[in-house]
Amino acid sequence: MTLSTAPAPLPVEPPAGCPFDPPAEFGTLRTTEPISKISLADGSWAWLATRYSDIRAILGDTRFSSDTTVPGYPLSGMTGGATTANRGFIRMDPPEHTRLRRMVTREFMVKRVEALRPEIQRITDELCDAMERAEGRAEGGVDLVEALALPVPSLVISLLLGVPYDDHDVFQSLTGKLLSRTIADDERESARRELRDYLDQLVTGKEAAPGDDILGRLIVEQQQTGEISHDDVAAFAALLLIAGHETTANMIGLSALTLMRDTESAERLRQEPALIRGAVEELLRFHSIIRNGPRRVATADIEIGGHLIRAGEGVVVAVPSANRDESVFADADRLDVSRPNAQHHVAFGYGIHQCLGQALARVELQVVIGTLLRRFPDMRPAVPVDEIPFRTDMAIHGCHALPVTW
Ligand code: HEM
Repeated sequence: MTLSTAPAPLPVEPPAGCPFDPPAEFGTLRTTEPISKISLADGSWAWLATRYSDIRAILGDTRFSSDTTVPGYPLSGMTGGATTANRGFIRMDPPEHTRLRRMVTREFMVKRVEALRPEIQRITDELCDAMERAEGRAEGGVDLVEALALPVPSLVISLLLGVPYDDHDVFQSLTGKLLSRTIADDERESARRELRDYLDQLVTGKEAAPGDDILGRLIVEQQQTGEISHDDVAAFAALLLIAGHETTANMIGLSALTLMRDTESAERLRQEPALIRGAVEELLRFHSIIRNGPRRVATADIEIGGHLIRAGEGVVVAVPSANRDESVFADADRLDVSRPNAQHHVAFGYGIHQCLGQALARVELQVVIGTLLRRFPDMRPAVPVDEIPFRTDMAIHGCHALPVTW
């Protein structure tokens, strides 16, 4: 799908002066042209869906494929080495998607994840203890991303998968490259190869001595019974490791910063901690960190909101726009920690690919935000907000670093 006169490019930049809001163009498009043509970096084009109802219709319809190898899939500008054979079930359709997802569903069920809450609290408390002891708080501040936001989800997912946390420098820096929108393609490709080699070796080691963890159970229950291959286990590891730490880490950073600036909401949550669960839903809605996707390709001619999308045409689904749709969320651009319908957000997607790790992300966010509010009531940014390096260069929004003091 290449056009001679290119339509407007996919909006990615937040409005000037506001690091939290999605691109301003989304608001206009929702009313004027809710399904509009956009151009992608390589000159190809795709449809951009901006309305909540259309987005749920697209994500809920399996005739829109997630398979990145289907011709017409809008790959341009996507991160993560998406077209490779071992691309993980996030980029597959039923029946293969269903078969593979089922193998790990129980690991992320609410009950299982709730049982982890005390361990997540312990990890958070230890990191907060270390932060309290940290030198440098007076000069320049402590980087909350490095001290807390990234280590909590990384430690938890490493523990669940059975990946040595001592290797976190390796997998965090490789993931950072995979998710960057600005690095050169060959650099991203070599990061992808390095991560594959790292996980390949890890799985080989675990085949010899499978532990009591997700990868160990996949090896014993699925690989040794011939259901999946060595490479499939490595693909599970890559998907869960990447999805399991980058996303939540960025939500923690953005949420902490939001509550440092919105001291009224922060005080309310300190007084009424029972509101924290709902506040996490609202923060997920408000921030919608998956900024240029998810994406799909139509496998049939499908009418969405009175608009025909033809087989083979690509669609970019603007989750941040759906979550600011005024027809669903009143005064949508305002953060309201007691918003009654915040949980109807689509920050975790919708339909069969809806986030597998959402229960885990919720518990991590509830624990970390609750702990920060309780233990660091005076925490504030150590630099002016316009000096915070926001991740406008990445597929997942957040802050690269967040210097704080208290
Ligand atoms: C705040 C944190 C998170 C956000 C905002 C988020 C968001 C999303 C979204 C929007 C999707 C749907 C993708 C699509 O439709 O193509 C998704 C899928 C997925 N997420 Fe998350 N996620 C988060 C945390 C996690 C965590 C902690 C894990 C842990 C393993 C995880 C694992 C996955 C997996 C495996 C999928 C693919 C599901 C499938 O294709 O069936 N995510 N996530």
